[in-house]
Amino acid sequence: MNESRSGRERWIVGNWKQNLLRLEAEALARAVVAAIPDEWFESDDTVHVGIAPTYLSLEAVRPWTRPAGPLWLFAQDVAAQESGAFTGEVGPAMLLDAGARGAIIGHSERRAYYGETDAMVARKLRGALDAGLRVILCVGETLEIRQAGNHESHVISQLSKAFSHLKGEHLGHHLMIAYEPVWAIGTGNTATPEDARAMHQAIRGWLGAHYGSAGADRSILYGGSVKATNAAELMAAGEIDGFLVGGASLDVESFIRIIESAVAG
Ligand code: PGA
Repeated sequence: MNESRSGRERWIVGNWKQNLLRLEAEALARAVVAAIPDEWFESDDTVHVGIAPTYLSLEAVRPWTRPAGPLWLFAQDVAAQESGAFTGEVGPAMLLDAGARGAIIGHSERRAYYGETDAMVARKLRGALDAGLRVILCVGETLEIRQAGNHESHVISQLSKAFSHLKGEHLGHHLMIAYEPVWAIGTGNTATPEDARAMHQAIRGWLGAHYGSAGADRSILYGGSVKATNAAELMAAGEIDGFLVGGASLDVESFIRIIESAVAG
């Protein structure tokens, strides 16, 4: 295990987005479990593997996820509120009831296509952590922001707004961050290991400055066109604790090779 990562959990989570019918989702979860050698799961020192299917497929893949199976089950989003007259929403307790152990919050597609604001992200984050869900909080800049040289301040601003309802005790191991540059998601363009490392260091620096070791010890994942062919060099950058994988997680072989890079990294 890379010393610079010691103490931090390594996670690889497949974000299946709006793909796969229930039977297809179940088949993919089963194939992933079948392809992963048992020893990858054997100790805390190895890697945690998660999948995030649509809400409708949570139950279908549940037999392959904890506690029945080795995978961690995440939802792709969660409502900010617990329950009530909020048509179309799914709350934290409903996710837990369906077998999910965590949720992705603030994905750039939610922010860009569904008008999710930093204020909404902050409420969702607090509600999910209070309910006991693990959270992958997504942050990342657009190409315009990077070209203007404002990428670090933008990401730190997203972080500080998302954390605005949190208290120190929320900074436990249930919270991880995913740095996902918007220009890299689904485009085939990946951040260079140097760019990813620099941003991860900036995020970790901010977390440490505000929350001490509870903040600095958070796992920070990278996302954005992670593939079997680039995962190892990203992992070798040292600051990256794992990946949030979109397109490549729909293909068993690619996903397994990405996990393998994290186990070796
Ligand atoms: P991608 O998606 O791997 O297809 O770029 C990553 C994500 O959106 O989490």
